[in-house]
Amino acid sequence: MIDTPPLRLNRSIVMVGLMGAGKTSIGRRLAQRLHVPFIDSDAEIEKAANESIAEIFERAGEAVFRAGERRIIARLLDGPAQVLATGGGAFMDPATRARIRERGISVWLRADLETLLERVTRRQHRPLLNEADPREVMIRLMAARHPVYAEADIAIDSLAGPSETTMLNLLAALAAWAGPSGVIDGRPDPQKVPS
Ligand code: S3P
Repeated sequence: MIDTPPLRLNRSIVMVGLMGAGKTSIGRRLAQRLHVPFIDSDAEIEKAANESIAEIFERAGEAVFRAGERRIIARLLDGPAQVLATGGGAFMDPATRARIRERGISVWLRADLETLLERVTRRQHRPLLNEADPREVMIRLMAARHPVYAEADIAIDSLAGPSETTMLNLLAALAAWAGPSGVIDGRPDPQKVPS
């Protein structure tokens, strides 16, 4: 086990990245390690709607899902500091992105195409991947989303091996972010600093 100082969260850690990047599995491990709650925004949306995400897409369409996603993430970010895994499209929404920037520390879990495909083809619950060839969809999403995910505070490679390794790399990046105080807080926004 890596010897890292205990970290204290003043803000939530928000996992972003494509479907299959490991946001839930690595986020859950990180939360355990930091002794804070773990929340998955997709699961919260399903609970609030009493329907699966596939059912929401089918019945009401993607725009309605996105509106619910925006509301739920805003509410979760108003709560106590925790580890929050978001759905792959959440960070693409400008309002959600601004809220995450204001209230959280965003972590982009970056994975290569083959790793993502290997993980997502194990399950069938993702509506965006059920309609067309998952490889084509994923290539398109990578091109559109990677430049936006790159705005996250921290980027970590999500490795093909055990999620524990990626989690430990993330923990080290968070410890570096916190510095000697061990407190995870926001970085002063250079755009807001008066010149
Ligand atoms: C989506 C990702 C899914 C889920 C929905 C849409 C996306 O979450 O929110 O199917 O737009 O990338 P995961 O990234 O947790 O699979």
